Amino acid sequence: MFEIIRKDEMAKGTIVRFDINAPNIAQKIKPGQFIILRVNETGERIPITIADVDRLGGIIAIIVQVVGKTTALMRSLKAGDFIKDVVGPLGKPSPIRKLGTVLVVGGGTGIAILHHITKAMKEAGNTVIGIIGAREKDMLILEDEMRLLCDELIVTTDDGSYGIKGFVTLPLEKYLEERKDIKEIYAIGPIIMMKNVCKITKKYGVKTMVSLNPVMVDGTGMCGCCRVNINGETKFCCIDGPDFDGHQVDFDELEKRNSMYLKDEKDSLLFSIK
Ligand code: NAD
Ligand code: FES
Repeated sequence: MFEIIRKDEMAKGTIVRFDINAPNIAQKIKPGQFIILRVNETGERIPITIADVDRLGGIIAIIVQVVGKTTALMRSLKAGDFIKDVVGPLGKPSPIRKLGTVLVVGGGTGIAILHHITKAMKEAGNTVIGIIGAREKDMLILEDEMRLLCDELIVTTDDGSYGIKGFVTLPLEKYLEERKDIKEIYAIGPIIMMKNVCKITKKYGVKTMVSLNPVMVDGTGMCGCCRVNINGETKFCCIDGPDFDGHQVDFDELEKRNSMYLKDEKDSLLFSIK
């Protein structure tokens, strides 16, 4: 059993942060790696990439978007409640190195995963430029935390309620046009965002890493659910990823596979609140 130490509702309660007491995982987990949790004995297994870790305190932080039955159930939990199982660390750590100037791009809940990676990029001695975006001001998460880590931070909102009006790809293209010293880019967010970021960065020849979120079941390479097409080869996201070179990812295939269960996810949420 894993105790919830702190719970914070963000983005009008549609995104929730949980700090969970998990000392063994906290000691080992690295940026980019994920856990699989089960809220209770009969619960489904959901993979979540870590947003932060406090190694000394033995705490891992996860940030969850409420999209289905399980995440709705999670939203009902509070500090002091327990999560039945937390398994991890799973997946490969993000390849973090000192490169010089790097750019990190985060969209929506993707900013949570990006936060842990940005922290490591900064600690490795890089100059970090950040671009983060959300649909509207109230949906933007971790702005203060990202501002502390980044040497420069650009914020966008789709509706223009805060920062630059438009998608994250708007300032990205402008930045790459003006600056030729970006050594690598990390982009994490919805599939369409990562796909469009990669289209732009390919044009400018800047290596771009992405974190993929296909459907997962076991998270240990056995079921094949999480297969993704990387440069024409089948890879299992849970053991070969979740981070991949974005210029090699078949985003269209990933989008198609992920959309297969969207209706079930929505139905399960509706059923659970009836
Ligand atoms: P969202 O739809 O609110 O979009 C977040 C930001 O992404 C936008 O503000 C915009 O800047 C950018 N974006 C959106 N569409 C774009 C486009 N067509 N071109 C360029 N940029 C675009 O995102 P959300 O609600 O946080 O996530 C939506 C889905 O993505 C969810 O299903 C979620 O599970 C998934 N997701 C995956 C990851 C991951 O692990 N890679 C991270 C976050 C979210
Ligand atoms: Fe089963 Fe990756 S989740 S192989």
